[in-house]
Amino acid sequence: MTDTAQVPPSGGRAAPPEHLSHVIFITAAAAMGGFLFGYDSSVINGAVEAIRSRYDIGSAALAQVIAIALIGCAIGAATAGRIADRIGRIRCMRISAALFTVSAVGSALPFDIYDLAVWRIIGGFAIGMASVIGPAYIAEVSPAAYRGRLGSFQQAAIVIGIAISQLVNFGILQLANGDQRGKLLGLEAWQWMLGVMVVPALLYGLLSFAIPESPRYLLSVGKVDRAREVLAEVESKDVDLDARVAEIEHAMRREHKSTFKDLKGSRFYFLPIVWVGIGLSMFQQLVGINVAFYYSATLWQSVGINPSSSFFYSFTTSIVNIIGTVIAMVLVDKVGRKPLALVGSSGMAIALAFEAWAFSAPLVNGKLPSTEGTVALVAAHVFVLFFALSWGVIVWVFLGEMFPNKIRAAALGVAASAQWIANWVITASFPSLAEWNLSGTYIIYTFFAVLSIPFVLLFVKETKGKTLEEMG
Ligand code: GLC
Repeated sequence: MTDTAQVPPSGGRAAPPEHLSHVIFITAAAAMGGFLFGYDSSVINGAVEAIRSRYDIGSAALAQVIAIALIGCAIGAATAGRIADRIGRIRCMRISAALFTVSAVGSALPFDIYDLAVWRIIGGFAIGMASVIGPAYIAEVSPAAYRGRLGSFQQAAIVIGIAISQLVNFGILQLANGDQRGKLLGLEAWQWMLGVMVVPALLYGLLSFAIPESPRYLLSVGKVDRAREVLAEVESKDVDLDARVAEIEHAMRREHKSTFKDLKGSRFYFLPIVWVGIGLSMFQQLVGINVAFYYSATLWQSVGINPSSSFFYSFTTSIVNIIGTVIAMVLVDKVGRKPLALVGSSGMAIALAFEAWAFSAPLVNGKLPSTEGTVALVAAHVFVLFFALSWGVIVWVFLGEMFPNKIRAAALGVAASAQWIANWVITASFPSLAEWNLSGTYIIYTFFAVLSIPFVLLFVKETKGKTLEEMG
């Protein structure tokens, strides 16, 4: 643990950075990884049925091809921290951008279904890396007073990525006259859907050349002057840069590159703080948020809503997701992370309970009765709103900032992989759970939303306004 009492205070906690627009640019460029994360994880939805018919495979095999990308994500997240500690945050972003690019091309032009699965794993690996490197880098370049808001750019980029992928898919589908396998310039529509990601992937790679390396990484490799220059770029002008450098160096003293071993605690395998990170990650997924994004069309069609309306509702949920994220961005540094999380959990629990109630009604001619149908639709939007203004943003902000410097990279990797695994569990189990009982499935998600309340109250510490060094 670092004793910050011995070092000069960082100061400038409330003053805005001197070059705020530059800091925003740096953050937005790093958050392009988040955009790709959102885009890549949801783009596949528009292509699923076409892939099924093109390769003539059953639902189980298809679910595996989709879910396997999430395993790639877990591996990418687990390794990104170590890569970033070894070669720097920026080079790590470039590797991720390169992998996104090749995976977009490979997935658009696969030889067969196995080849497609391999490209999806590679794309997943890139998403996993981006999911770790974005929040870590942003937390490291942000002045303390702005870190929550700047950290929330990652989630904002994710939600915009999800919404844009839906729009692009819709646009491509229109050009192909509504046929996912319709031909456009020699390729089928679904191939374009997967291939278009080349554009943001290349942009991410290019932007990585326009932003500076993180001051903490620079100090860890002894580049003190360069670190000072970067701090001058991002901090407010009344911050004493020498004191800032001393503070960071002090926190890193006797520190070595964090490894898995550093996360070990005396009881329960990991240190308690690592468990808190894992818990935050898992609760974020176990409330079933990605059912709303990966399966919305299937969900609405299963209760009798026609395909074009279900596309529309997928898009309206994405818009609500963006609105909620903006609300969180405004509030995160004002009211703090914990109150937002608690409000979010309560709102989600109530909305999920309404969904469970609505889905318990027997279908009439394959449709929910009109009251229950309306309640299900409204509750789904309310659920996404409460998720977006709380857990969506807060978990990524927390993961970037909550761990002591000494273990940040490795701990973030473990927590983010736990999140991808939980995402995989929910994604892979939903079709069978829905077949078993849709209402029962929503009761399970409600249970996790309720359970997240005591978890936050008992185990999560507020991090608003503290410097990363003060976190230990
Ligand atoms: C968060 C979750 C991600 C989800 C997204 C939806 O980023 O980590 O899994 O798709 O929110 O907005």
